[in-house]
Amino acid sequence: MRISVIIPAAGSSTRYNSGADDPLGTGRSKLDEDLGGKTVLQRSIELFNTREEVAQVIVAGPYDDDAFADFKLRHADRISLLGATLVQGGKDHRYETVANALRVVDASCTHIAIHDAARPATNAALIDRLFDAAKTHPAVVPGTPVSDTLKRIDPDPLDDSSEVDPVASILGVGTRHSMHRVDSTIDRTNLMQVQTPQVFERELLARAYAQDDLSSTDDAGLVERLGEPVVIVEGDPLNIKLTRAGDLPLVRAIMGVKGPSERPTHKRF
Ligand code: CTP
Ligand code: MG
Repeated sequence: MRISVIIPAAGSSTRYNSGADDPLGTGRSKLDEDLGGKTVLQRSIELFNTREEVAQVIVAGPYDDDAFADFKLRHADRISLLGATLVQGGKDHRYETVANALRVVDASCTHIAIHDAARPATNAALIDRLFDAAKTHPAVVPGTPVSDTLKRIDPDPLDDSSEVDPVASILGVGTRHSMHRVDSTIDRTNLMQVQTPQVFERELLARAYAQDDLSSTDDAGLVERLGEPVVIVEGDPLNIKLTRAGDLPLVRAIMGVKGPSERPTHKRF
């Protein structure tokens, strides 16, 4: 098995910057956050770059030329030291980013693994499980059972859950908590929450990405659209995706690393 790993890193961290933690919207990329002296992006690359089966790691950065130039200033040195290849990602959707990265996949690779740059805490045993399962199944993804009750809501907020005072919002003293009416409860039997890395035979993923309609929130969805089987292997609840600002302390705790302010001064940068 020779695996090419694609790491989509072209997102805009919108949810990361939209909480009460960032009322002024400073627009920080979550992939630049510090995890024990390394960026989130570096940690995600390091999950793969020294693995024997991995022949190539491709990082797909921002689509926009200016944003890509800026991304290069911040990350290109490290990406090249780690032996990874850097390409530009897609404009609006993750699947466009993956489609761009697919163009530089080495033809000698038998498999492609796709892993969110924003998921740096994946443990090695999970990757072992997936790579092992990929030897016998052409499409494998990690999943965990849904444990909370799921409800579908009416998307329109109730009238009495309006915005807080804008000044209070800028000062970070008020947060909007919208309330919604529940439509129905979803039966969670046999429902799984799906993570990355997702691993595919190269030829199968190429066929999946040759379809006209690429809209999907994950790569396996495109394989399913072909009518081909996708297999779920046991995921890890701690394999969380850094999505909102409040996830950063969790990711640090899971990885057992400290933020810069908790480290001695000479180890902060
Ligand atoms: N991603 C990407 N190209 C896009 C959108 C997302 O490469 N057009 C990447 C992100 O960089 C991230 C992964 O896909 O590593 C998962 O996406 P998500 O967590 O949604 O990150 P963002 O899109 O950056 O966040 P948000 O949706 O809050 O803006
Ligand atoms: Mg996104």
